[in-house]
Amino acid sequence: MNFKSLFRKKSTSILLQEGGDGEHSGLHKVLTVRDLTFFGIAAIIGGGTFSAIGNACFSGGPGVVFLYIICGIACGFTALCYAEFAAQVPVSGSAYTYAYVSFGELFAWIIGWALLMEYSIGNIYIAFSWSGYFTNLMDGFGMHLPEWLTINYKAAHQAFIDSKAGEGLLAWTNAPQIGGLHIIFDLPAVLVNVFITWLVYRGTKESRNISNVMVIIKLVIIVLVIIVGCTYINIDNWTPFMPNGFGGVMGGVSAVFFAYIGFDAVSTLAEESKNPQRDLPRGMIYSLVICTVVYIILALVLTGMVSYSLLGVSDPLAEIFKIKEIKWMIFIVSIAAVVAMTSVLLVFQMGQPRIWMSMSRDGLLPKRFASIHPKYKTPGFATIITGLVVGVPLFFTDENFVLDFTSIGTLFAFVLVCAGVLTLPSQQGNNKASAVKGKFRLPYVNSKYIMPLITISVFALVTYFVPGFIASKFIITTDNAANNIPMLVFFVLLIVMGILSFVKNLSLIPVLGLMSCCYLLTGMAASNWIWFSMWLAVGLVVYFLYSYKNSSLNN
Ligand code: ALA
Repeated sequence: MNFKSLFRKKSTSILLQEGGDGEHSGLHKVLTVRDLTFFGIAAIIGGGTFSAIGNACFSGGPGVVFLYIICGIACGFTALCYAEFAAQVPVSGSAYTYAYVSFGELFAWIIGWALLMEYSIGNIYIAFSWSGYFTNLMDGFGMHLPEWLTINYKAAHQAFIDSKAGEGLLAWTNAPQIGGLHIIFDLPAVLVNVFITWLVYRGTKESRNISNVMVIIKLVIIVLVIIVGCTYINIDNWTPFMPNGFGGVMGGVSAVFFAYIGFDAVSTLAEESKNPQRDLPRGMIYSLVICTVVYIILALVLTGMVSYSLLGVSDPLAEIFKIKEIKWMIFIVSIAAVVAMTSVLLVFQMGQPRIWMSMSRDGLLPKRFASIHPKYKTPGFATIITGLVVGVPLFFTDENFVLDFTSIGTLFAFVLVCAGVLTLPSQQGNNKASAVKGKFRLPYVNSKYIMPLITISVFALVTYFVPGFIASKFIITTDNAANNIPMLVFFVLLIVMGILSFVKNLSLIPVLGLMSCCYLLTGMAASNWIWFSMWLAVGLVVYFLYSYKNSSLNN
C-alpha cells in the first residue's frame, strides 16, 4: 500500500457516466423541485421538533432561539456548499461522493461511515420518539399497550437502577422473564421500522406520494400550534432570557442541530430527479429556509406559553397544551407528531441505501449493495440491510445516546463538505468559467479581508465580554480536557482560516460554513467525542481490511 493511493480521487466525468447523467443507474427519474423541497421538509421536521426541542428549551431557556439562529446559519452555509457539489456531481452518494471528488478515497470512506450515523442511527432516535407519541395516541383511544412493550430495555434498566418511578420501572417490574432476562422492547418502534423498510423497498414513486401528503399535514398542524400557542403567550416567561447563561443555550446543541438535519438528504435523490442540477440546490435551500422560520417562531411560542423549566419532557408540544388544558390540541399534536416522524423515517430510510449504492459501485462495499430490484427499481438489498441496521439496535440502545451520536457524526460530515467545496476550481478566485444557464453556482465572494476581520473581531469581543475565557482554554487538565480541547482547536482554526483566507483568497461562503459547523462541534460533550472516535476507528479497520483492496480505483 502506498500512502498516496489513500487519497486517490474519482473524476467527476466518470461519476456522471456511472450514474449521474441519468440512464445508467436504472432508477426512475420522477422527482421535481417541488417534490425535492417536500422531501427536504419531510426529512427536517420530525423528532427534533416534536421531542428534542423540549430538553433544548429546558437547558437554554427562551435564549435557545439564539441556538436555532446559529444552527440555521451554519446549515444555510452548508446547504449552499451541498448545493454547489450537488449541481456539479449529481449522483446519489451525497457528501460521500463529494469527498471522493475533492479529498480522495480515504476521506470519502470516512464520510460514508459518518453518514451512517446521520441516516441510520438518526432513524433509531426518531423511531423511539415516534413510538412515544404513537403510544400516547393509542392511550387516547383507550388502547393501552403494556409498558414492557413500549420502552427500550436500556431505559427501563436505568429506571430500575435509579429506582425512578414511571414507565421504565413499571416495565421492569411487569416484564415477563426468560431465564432471568427481562423481555422489554419498544414494539411500536420496531413495527414502524418494518413498515418503512417495506415501503421504501416497494419504490420511490409510492414513497413520494405518501411523503408529500404527510408534509402537508405536518406543516398545517405546526402552523395551527403556532397560531393557537400565540394567544397564550405571556411575555413574562421570556425573562430571564438565558437563565443558565450561554453555556445552557449551547447545552442544547445536539438537540437543536438534530432538528435541522435532513436538508442534505435531498442530495441523495440526485439520480431520481428530473433535472438534478437545477432542482437539487433549490429543493435544499427552499426547505431549509422554510424550516428555519418555523423553528424560530416555534421556540419563541413554546417558551412564551409556559416557563422553560416545564419543558424538559419528551413530548413538549403536547405538554404545553396539557398545561393549558386544551385537550383537542393535545390530540392534534400527537397525530401531527406521528405523521411528521413517519415522513422523516421514510426520507432517511431512502437515503441510506442510495449512499451505500454509490459506495458499492466504487468497490468500497460488496457489489450486492448496488443491485437494483428488477421490478421496483429500488436498491433492494441495501434497503433491507438499512432496515436491519435501524431495527436491531432498537433492542439495545436508548434515545439520548443515539441523538448525540447522530449530531456529532453529521456535523463532522458537514465540516468536510464545506472544506471540500473550497478545493473546487469553481471556488477559486481566478476561475473565470461562466455559469451554465439553469445550473446552480455558488457565488464566489473573496474572504481576503472579511475573514481576518471576523477572526480579530471574535477575539476582541470574547476578550471584552468574557475576560480570561480564551486564556482559560489553554490550561488543560484531565478534568477539563474534553471541554477545553475542542474550544482550543476552534480558536486555533479561526486564526489559521483568517491567515489562509488572506493569503489564498478563499471563497467566503464555504469558509463561514466550515467555521460555523466547527463552532457547533465545540458544544458536544466529552462522551460523544469518545464514542465518535471509536466509531471512526472501527470504520478505518473496515476500510483497510476490505474497501482499500476492492476499490475500483485499484484497477
Ligand atoms: N431533523 C430530523 C428530525 O428532527 C432528523 O427528526
